[in-house]
Amino acid sequence: MKILITGGLGFIGSNLARHLIGLGHDVLVADNLIRRGSERNLADFEPHFLYCDFRNEEDVALLPGADLIINCHAEMVTTGQKGYQHPELPIRNNGFSTLNVLNWARRHGARVMHVSTNRVYNLEPLERYEQLDRETRIELKDFEGIRRGLFSTDGGEKGIYGISKLVADALVQEYFWAFGVPAVINRIGSITGPGQFGCAEQGWASHFVMSYWKREPITFIGYGGKQVRDLLHVRDLCRLFAAQIENSDFRCEVNDVGGGKTRAISLLEAKAILDRAFGYEVPVLHKPAKKADPPVTFMDNREVTAAYGWTPETTLEAMFTEMVDLAAPLATISS
Ligand SMILES: NC(=O)c1ccc[n+]([C@@H]2O[C@H](COP(=O)([O-])OP(=O)(O)OC[C@H]3O[C@@H](n4cnc5c(N)ncnc54)[C@H](O)[C@@H]3O)[C@@H](O)[C@H]2O)c1
Repeated sequence: MKILITGGLGFIGSNLARHLIGLGHDVLVADNLIRRGSERNLADFEPHFLYCDFRNEEDVALLPGADLIINCHAEMVTTGQKGYQHPELPIRNNGFSTLNVLNWARRHGARVMHVSTNRVYNLEPLERYEQLDRETRIELKDFEGIRRGLFSTDGGEKGIYGISKLVADALVQEYFWAFGVPAVINRIGSITGPGQFGCAEQGWASHFVMSYWKREPITFIGYGGKQVRDLLHVRDLCRLFAAQIENSDFRCEVNDVGGGKTRAISLLEAKAILDRAFGYEVPVLHKPAKKADPPVTFMDNREVTAAYGWTPETTLEAMFTEMVDLAAPLATISS
């Protein structure tokens, strides 16, 4: 199948491109190299790479047709100040640029796989769960994870990144219902694995590992490091996307995808793993909690597991071991 991946030099896009090429698909990656580190993937994809800034209609119009487009580019502004100070940047980059992707898909009769995020949900219902303050983590009593139905995209503060992704998510759905553009949407949680260039506000696990290599401080943003997040290895995500390419009817299904409860870990617990792995500690900087950043989030994969027989395979331990091994050369990239 001919597949075009937007943001194909980024962390998820490049891993996905390699995975799909390995399965025999004819893959093109399109990117504007805005993300630090994305240029490191250029050599691998040179004959399959097309420069394209998806904000520009003129760039998108020049792209060749394909059977499927995977909408994977984004400006990874999270819920911090930057998002609120310049909301127009991610709204334009992540939201409106998806309009260009959809018009391209409509013109070429292509299917759309949209990479969305759990940040599109109003996470206020999390406040209804009883919080249990354990020694190394905060727990929410009886919480089984974030999923559509239990959580809504209506209301609540999501941060500008979440809003920008919600614009894209809604546009993909609208183009399916209005114009029949076949689509599948995956709302994903935190992903980790090779080629991630993390920072404190996004890609926290890889940021931690790189900080250990550089013996630099790590940052806990609120909750004294007891906040809990799930991690999904990008390889597991690629396996799911490949299964969907084969088996989804692209009737605009919306999936919740992440590491889930069994791959949820607090920042303090992650630090303990890294203290052991490196044999030394690094200082911790504490910043105040961000807006729209709850103490516990992890995804509920049960629906997507039932639909595709897919479950994550890579354990947290394996993820951290791999991150430690892979981060050494990356630690030379200045942050
Ligand atoms: N990494 C995660 O944990 C995570 C979690 C939830 C959702 N997502 C979503 O997954 C997708 C991929 O994330 P990632 O972690 O690979 O990010 P990334 O920053 O590593 O990759 C994004 C790529 O998109 C490119 N890009 C950005 N704007 C562009 C534009 N206007 N035109 C062309 N290229 C552009 C960048 O240069 C980069 O190569 C994004 O849509 C993101 O919102 C990621």
